[in-house]
Amino acid sequence: MPQTHRTSVCIIGAGPAGLLLSQLLANAGVDSIVIDRRDRAYIEGRIRAGVLEQGTVDALTEAGVGDRMHREGLVHSGFDLAFDGDRHRIDIAALTGKSVLVYGQTEVTRDLFDKRMAEGGCFFFNVEDVTPGALKTHQPTVSFQHDGQPVTVTCDYVAGCDGFHGVSRKSIPADVLRTFERVYPFGWLGVLTERPPVSDELIYANHARGFALCSMRSATRSRYYLQCDADDDPENWSDDRFWDELRLRIGAEAAANLQTGPSFEKSIAPLRSFVAEPMRYGNLFLAGDAAHIVPPTGAKGLNLAVADVRLLARALAERYRSGSTTHIDSYSRIVLARVWKVERFSWQLSNLMHQFPDHTDFERKMQRAEFDYLVQSEAASKTIAENYVGLPLE
Ligand code: APR
Ligand code: PHB
Repeated sequence: MPQTHRTSVCIIGAGPAGLLLSQLLANAGVDSIVIDRRDRAYIEGRIRAGVLEQGTVDALTEAGVGDRMHREGLVHSGFDLAFDGDRHRIDIAALTGKSVLVYGQTEVTRDLFDKRMAEGGCFFFNVEDVTPGALKTHQPTVSFQHDGQPVTVTCDYVAGCDGFHGVSRKSIPADVLRTFERVYPFGWLGVLTERPPVSDELIYANHARGFALCSMRSATRSRYYLQCDADDDPENWSDDRFWDELRLRIGAEAAANLQTGPSFEKSIAPLRSFVAEPMRYGNLFLAGDAAHIVPPTGAKGLNLAVADVRLLARALAERYRSGSTTHIDSYSRIVLARVWKVERFSWQLSNLMHQFPDHTDFERKMQRAEFDYLVQSEAASKTIAENYVGLPLE
């Protein structure tokens, strides 16, 4: 006989999307159960990006998990785009009046877990065979195995926050679900090193040898990426080879400030643009990577997940507060309108900043001409800036 539990919202996935949704719902007096196939240590250990839009900072502050973020996060008012060593600063503060906060996703996840655990959040970790059911009814269920025992959660709503490889999106019938995808013909090789960053701000560099990104986690921990073959192996990249290639791609001025050290967390990530529509099926709602993926070029993955969750938490809280389903009924339409605009920005910046194997000399000239136009045109730089700091929620 399965264990049975009852809650208002069953959240599949304890990544940033699921954790933030659980916290925002709790703050609105709505109970939830969060399940994940991994445990907290594994989830926190995933190395991800670390540039937070103002909207994300506001949401985390509103959720009550912003104290350490505000203490330790690095406020950035601009970043550099570089082409074959020529640098152009996108002055996001002057162009938009806003800034971004550099604060690792690992830290965001840790802060959310701390808060949820302190408030007695209900979690099931290391679950298996997760199966959403009865999604078109008013009593949807989520069944799974936990510690070898069958468990069934009955709820009003299921939130699919289980990432790109989760089960939620796949629970939408094939004749309902529509997907859109662009897989990029390269990957990003990333490393961390306990050395001060090469620059106070991020540098996105397009070089004939490939893309490079100089980022950071703190004043003493740097994060670097190199464009590499999609099927490359981190084992092919000694630290010396990595640092030599980075120097070539970021240009002499930046390379002169590069402090190299032993790398860790050396790994390769694929790049894709992906959107699934609709983001609602019956009483199942998708949020975050379960519904969409962006190439990391625009630092939008976490920020897009947070924006989804803000809209979903608003919709669910409204329903429990007033009975109105106005925002529930418009969730998929409103959230997708923003998702597609963020996908566009991430796709555009990826096309501008990377070397593509099938590019002719003409396309490479177009990339350079776009960079030169950004340098010359405040209007062009402002479009980059307003997307980078974050588009309005709706
Ligand atoms: N059952 C239960 N949990 C699952 C299942 C499943 N079948 N499949 C995946 N999960 C869990 C994963 O273990 C993970 O902890 O769902 C969680 C999804 O978290 P993320 O992949 O981090 O997705 P999301 O919360 O939407 O956050 C998006 O995280 O991966 C980065 O680049 C991404 O910055 C973006 C952000
Ligand atoms: C990171 O610091 O990991 C990072 C920053 C900006 C990006 C992508 C990754 O666009």
